Amino acid sequence: MAFVKVCALSELEEDTPKRVELDGTPVSVVKTEGEVYAINDICSHANVSLSEGEVEDCMIECWLHGSSFDLRTGKPSGLPATRPVPVYPVQIEGDDVLVSVTQES
Ligand code: FES
Repeated sequence: MAFVKVCALSELEEDTPKRVELDGTPVSVVKTEGEVYAINDICSHANVSLSEGEVEDCMIECWLHGSSFDLRTGKPSGLPATRPVPVYPVQIEGDDVLVSVTQES
């Protein structure tokens, strides 16, 4: 599983998603409640960037129709989205935030 640096920990603001691209995959990186999460940036309901939504209670809300996705599992909390959004493992090394979007070991 290849972890790649996506940003510095110090540049992440609490509850403010940061959109990055990793191997062509749009990823929203979120620092909240003492943890850093990486979730695919595209809503599972339509082609909308989740990083433009709000973060609360470890959920990121899609601004278009209001489905929220759990940053730990990618599961939606309610309609209209029914499918989960992929989430990715995160590693912190010093001030580096590393994310892996590949599943190969
Ligand atoms: S586009 Fe995200 S909930 Fe509809």
